[in-house]
Amino acid sequence: MNRRYAVIGNPVQHSRSPWLHTYFARQTQRPIVYAAYQPAGSFADCASAFFAGGGCGLNITLPYKTDALAFADSASAYARQVAAANVLKRQADGSIRAYNTDGSGFLRDLQRLGATLSDKTILLLGAGGAAQAVAHAINRQQPARLSIYNRTPERAQQLAQQCGGNAIAIADIADERPAEIIINATSASHKQPLSYAPALFHQTQLAYDLSYGTAAQHFLRQAASAGVVQCVDGSGMLAWQAALSFALWEGVLPSVAEAIPHLQSH
Ligand code: ATR
Repeated sequence: MNRRYAVIGNPVQHSRSPWLHTYFARQTQRPIVYAAYQPAGSFADCASAFFAGGGCGLNITLPYKTDALAFADSASAYARQVAAANVLKRQADGSIRAYNTDGSGFLRDLQRLGATLSDKTILLLGAGGAAQAVAHAINRQQPARLSIYNRTPERAQQLAQQCGGNAIAIADIADERPAEIIINATSASHKQPLSYAPALFHQTQLAYDLSYGTAAQHFLRQAASAGVVQCVDGSGMLAWQAALSFALWEGVLPSVAEAIPHLQSH
């Protein structure tokens, strides 16, 4: 019988997870089906019904990642650290365990790009859920400096404090020293795109936007026109977080290389 998986989010109709997991299932010849649910009521009711009906695992997207962590019976150290889960798995004893593969998905994508973080100067724009997911992962790689800038400075300070290590919050972007890697983790591009001074990018080798498709274009175009050679959107991270979810559930890590161009075209 097919094992059942799904993504829960709101909105969920644009999620690429059903496509990705169906692709991975075909590639690895695993008998799975993968659906998408937008809860009519609470997240917990929707997730309970799914697992009670025999579901094996869930991906969780906005705005339910903290609810997912609270729902689980146990959680990985990383999910607890970022206080959010994007994966739930029903274990052999029936209990539900939470994981977060966003941070490791980001690191895997940097590996794909040949970029390393240790001893690098890094600027992270944003301090919301997406930024939190990657900030801890970045800091574990021991960068020379992780500067965090956010419209609401208190959130940047809080995130820098949580990360510890070489993470610092910066109050004024104009004071920021050149960074070798700049990561855009704001959701501003969806509504009113932000503009940065070209000087911000002067020593930047890699500009990475955690969103993908048209939402990433404004930031990446600014970086490219300021001379940054490697400008990359988050479609690789999206594919990797899905592949790592699949590996947690099915015990086999699919190959993501051919999935990424497909995501970029959407
Ligand atoms: P997500 O989970 O996608 O990160 P979020 O937690 O709501 O969503 O965080 C959105 C991020 O984009 C935050 O860093 C937010 O800044 P604030 O903390 O000041 O709200 C940032 N952001 C969103 N719209 C923005 C805008 N117009 N200008 C600057 N930053 C913006």
